[in-house]
Amino acid sequence: MHCIKKIRGDLTWIGANDRRLAMFEGVYSVPTGVSYNSYLLTDEKTVLFDTVDKAVRERFLENLDEALNGKPLDYLVVQHMEPDHSAAIQDLITLYPELKIVCNEKTLQFIKQFYDFDTEARFNIVKENDTLNTGTHSLHFIMAPMVHWPEVMVTYDSTDKILFSADAFGCFGALNGAIFADEVDFAKDYMDEARRYYTNIVGKYGSQVEALLGKASNLTIEMICPLHGFVWRKNINDIVSKYALWSSYEPEEKGVMIAYASVYGHTENAAEILASRLRDRGIKTQMFDVSVTPASEVVSAAFRWSHLVFASTTYNAGIFVTMEAVISDLCAHNIQNRTVAIIENGSWAATSGNLIRSALEKCKNIHFIENKLSLKSGLKKDQLSKIDVMTEALIATFATFVPAQETSKSTQSNTAPSTKIDQSAMFKLSYGLFVLSAKEGEKDNGCIVNTVTQITESPLRISVTVNKANFTREMILNTGEFNVSILTENTPFRIFENFGFHSGRDTDKFASFTNEMRAANGIRYLSEHTNAIICAKVTESLDYETHTLFIADVTQAFVITSEPSLTYQYYFDHIKPKPQVPKEGKKGFVCKICGYVFEGENLPDDFICPLCKHGAKDFERG
Ligand code: FEO
Repeated sequence: MHCIKKIRGDLTWIGANDRRLAMFEGVYSVPTGVSYNSYLLTDEKTVLFDTVDKAVRERFLENLDEALNGKPLDYLVVQHMEPDHSAAIQDLITLYPELKIVCNEKTLQFIKQFYDFDTEARFNIVKENDTLNTGTHSLHFIMAPMVHWPEVMVTYDSTDKILFSADAFGCFGALNGAIFADEVDFAKDYMDEARRYYTNIVGKYGSQVEALLGKASNLTIEMICPLHGFVWRKNINDIVSKYALWSSYEPEEKGVMIAYASVYGHTENAAEILASRLRDRGIKTQMFDVSVTPASEVVSAAFRWSHLVFASTTYNAGIFVTMEAVISDLCAHNIQNRTVAIIENGSWAATSGNLIRSALEKCKNIHFIENKLSLKSGLKKDQLSKIDVMTEALIATFATFVPAQETSKSTQSNTAPSTKIDQSAMFKLSYGLFVLSAKEGEKDNGCIVNTVTQITESPLRISVTVNKANFTREMILNTGEFNVSILTENTPFRIFENFGFHSGRDTDKFASFTNEMRAANGIRYLSEHTNAIICAKVTESLDYETHTLFIADVTQAFVITSEPSLTYQYYFDHIKPKPQVPKEGKKGFVCKICGYVFEGENLPDDFICPLCKHGAKDFERG
């Protein structure tokens, strides 16, 4: 019997789950199963986005028949030819002989390699930025080579602002009845599997993922529909920011992953003592016995943590077999930017340490802790001090380590287009108006400012001056972080009313914003009426009587649209309501900020505008 899910309007999920699969792609354990997602758009023309794995082909065909509800199937968009998404193509050709297949040249080549069906007339070959109109929807095709195969493309539905993202933003794990990421506790229950999926499936292709993220940053995306895992309709930046981080190969968290291979427990013993010493010093640790834990989990953890320790016995004059597999896997997945310490063991001729080092030396930017610990069988009392030395050496590197999302350092030398800091976001700065936002605990807040300026390019640094009366200023002082949403000329006056005429102390200024967009720092930003977002971390705050001047390093920046930035002049000429004129014969004062009219001969010195809360000094005689 069919089992389908309505995604939105005329879009339906018709995929299926597989909980019997032991090893995805024959190599990655999937203890909680996997979903194969396929989506049917029933516009004037019907469009199917990919098919499924052969294991769930029967359910998929039932689902398709139900969702079509008697309509013909007009188009199959093949975004990815890996058989877990293309196993039912031959069935579709048989069931729907008029079906047109939309794909790119590379995909066509793969279809011919996998299948034998003939007629080229069936194919509608597309390339970058080609579109397909299906009635009310307009589909745009965007090439995403090597995310995860060379033929991969994604599709953007500009009508509903949906990105069909192929393998990108996917996750291991069956769906268990839910389809949207916001229906589950994704951070707690699924983020580890999303990381394991990313690192193992596309971890090798960081620059290609960054290229796709760069293209996606020019789109307004309200929903992401991947081929595995959940559909994202809320908090989309939760997963996008993780992809930006993972694809940069910067660690996610400060801490030590200790992976060990131990035959009789002596190497394990040294690893345990090191972990214990590190914990005593407040350092987070995660340990794996690589003979027990699948390599895919160790690779995933290595992408998470800043520091890696490998402890391995020597076996057949080499690295112990399970550790050798892990090291080889890490090199294949392009692990970079890590601090590494090594413990080796060998009862008569220890070689594993040097072999691990020479393998990892081929990876980029690996900093080795010198003086590996070398054991001959069991750990001896006089070697405990060597573990202490290794502990101290690791801790010494922590003093200068700052996780990637907290610094712009890692991107300053990056001359390629960066999804973390797009320098062109700086070109949007003018003497304009901005929403300055901050987050303290669970509280989100923002205010209007007109004082954001770039100070230096390297390091990329900005300043912003904020009135001391603003609650946002207080939050920034407490947290040291903020976002700037650069407003555009199409900003409606209600945005200024919302962020400028109330205090965040007694209102939730983001309450009316259903599209909850957060940057990598967790702080909200505006996704509409803004052309760029700049996220920053305060390095200095200076007191100037009525205002505080914050100097801050840019930690993330991205462009949203090409709309012109709003200047102060444009605001006064076109957005701010024209001041009302006091009724004939009446004397009055007009608020220069919001146009409110106070009727009376004299304006009290302590008068506060009931609309925008500005004081008497901002009124002029009307
Ligand atoms: Fe789920 Fe690259 O296939």
